[in-house]
Amino acid sequence: MNAFTQIEELVMPLPLEPRGYTIAPSKQSPRLLELTFAPETVEAFVQAVAQWPVQALEYKSFLRFRLGEILDQLCQGTLRPVLLNTILDRATGGMLITPLGLDDVSQAEDMVKFTTACAHLIGRSNYDAMSGQFYARFVVVNSDNSDSYLRQPHRVMELHNDGTFVNQITDYVLMLKIDEKNMEGGNSLLLHLDDWEQCEEFFRHPMARREMRWTAPPSKKVAEDVFHSVFDTDGEGRPTMRYIDQFVQPENYEEGIWLNALSDSLEGSGKKVSVPVGVGSFLLINNLFWLHGRDRFTPHEGLRRELMRQRGYVAFPKPLYQRGQ
Ligand SMILES: [Fe+2]
Repeated sequence: MNAFTQIEELVMPLPLEPRGYTIAPSKQSPRLLELTFAPETVEAFVQAVAQWPVQALEYKSFLRFRLGEILDQLCQGTLRPVLLNTILDRATGGMLITPLGLDDVSQAEDMVKFTTACAHLIGRSNYDAMSGQFYARFVVVNSDNSDSYLRQPHRVMELHNDGTFVNQITDYVLMLKIDEKNMEGGNSLLLHLDDWEQCEEFFRHPMARREMRWTAPPSKKVAEDVFHSVFDTDGEGRPTMRYIDQFVQPENYEEGIWLNALSDSLEGSGKKVSVPVGVGSFLLINNLFWLHGRDRFTPHEGLRRELMRQRGYVAFPKPLYQRGQ
């Protein structure tokens, strides 16, 4: 049970005309929508929030919501319902968002503010133990000796959900590209559960509801193990997942073999979507029915990639966007 399962059924897409941005299906998948903000909207936002450095948002949580309000007002109130209805809509639930004009690492602070505004129109971003903030910025370079595949460039990061090893509701994941140099490959990989060929088969398996142990490596700074099953259901009984291959600790042979088969099936899916994310763009996806990963890169001495993530829960006053209103 999570926030999403409780509120999902209350929400229906609204016939809203976007203002200050456009919305269209992506080339890669009709489930992934592209929101593109006009340069004038972005510029107006940047100016309106210039008085607050990101540090102010770190110290005062409510300012993150104020940023959301400012951006929504610039979009004449159309943005909040569109973001909420999209993130909760089972048929889509994923967005690639591009604020035009924010496309250089020198604008990193403004990028963080813009993503924060969007995230706080749909809910609230969780504390990220890795950074000690509500967001985490991290750099991927050519050589790495970290203890997970997060920063290791030369191999695929397998499909997974976020928030699997923490006791936090993680309805959404937001992934921003802040910088990219000498990069070849490394697209984001996405898979919607309703597209996965063997979803039903694994969802119906007795092991799907088995409580398993999830534990994180030291870099994640999460000391306690958590216990939950790989599959759950949303408000209408459809499958949701909380799964990551690197951090699940099968208790015995049966769990290990089933998890390995699950991993093979996900990685072998022909329905994976490969999405290039430009500097300044970000993915905002429903973490419960979209899996995400990253394709391998080509090694390069000068390779540098900087990313930012936020994950959190969806929340809004229910009467606001209820069915039929
Ligand atoms: Fe992730």
